[in-house]
Amino acid sequence: MTEEHNDDGTTRRSFIATGTAATAAVALTAAGVGWAGSSLAEGQTLPLTPQCTDGDDTPPVIEGPYFRRNSPLRTNLRTAGVTGVLLSLTGFVYDLRCKPLANVLVDFWQADQRGAYDNSTTAYRGRGHQFTDANGAYTLETIIPNEYPGRTPHIHVKVQAPRGPVLTTQLYFPDNTKAYNVNFAAANRRDAYYIRDTVIPLGPLTANRYQGKFDFVVRTA
Ligand SMILES: [Fe+2]
Repeated sequence: MTEEHNDDGTTRRSFIATGTAATAAVALTAAGVGWAGSSLAEGQTLPLTPQCTDGDDTPPVIEGPYFRRNSPLRTNLRTAGVTGVLLSLTGFVYDLRCKPLANVLVDFWQADQRGAYDNSTTAYRGRGHQFTDANGAYTLETIIPNEYPGRTPHIHVKVQAPRGPVLTTQLYFPDNTKAYNVNFAAANRRDAYYIRDTVIPLGPLTANRYQGKFDFVVRTA
């Protein structure tokens, strides 16, 4: 059990020790958004998705140099010219009490299949924002980004509940991910900003496509 001090000086307690969640495994059911019809065989397990059950908010990771304001409103980043290993990502946004939050701004930006960002065109390739639905869910159709010098593959994201603070973080991929001949284990190990807390659990690679699920836990005021 750990203790943390909130901004208002109060203390909140976390009842699941750090590290437990990262090593536990659970059997996924079709109850999770986006997993219905997935190719997971019965009894197959995935690493436990970081959850709000430990009472901790999703940790931040640096913004980096490539954020652009005014990304398009869209949930599909597979626009013209974007090819590669497909990724269908789903999840919920929760508050610290595990309540799903509707209408949360979720703004993604990422490199493409060559490891390049669109930093200049009006196409805003690899960039898009959306709002969580009434159930607090988001969905993203995209690709696994490639690595680029100094960085393991990652997806940037900003998450902001209505009137809440902005969470800026990065999502990573498991060591056994297969895409673009990248050695994900080595790339993750080398990356100074990599954290296990924001690794997206992936299902098996099927027909050039991964399914992933990642839930965010954010502060609301
Ligand atoms: Fe980046």
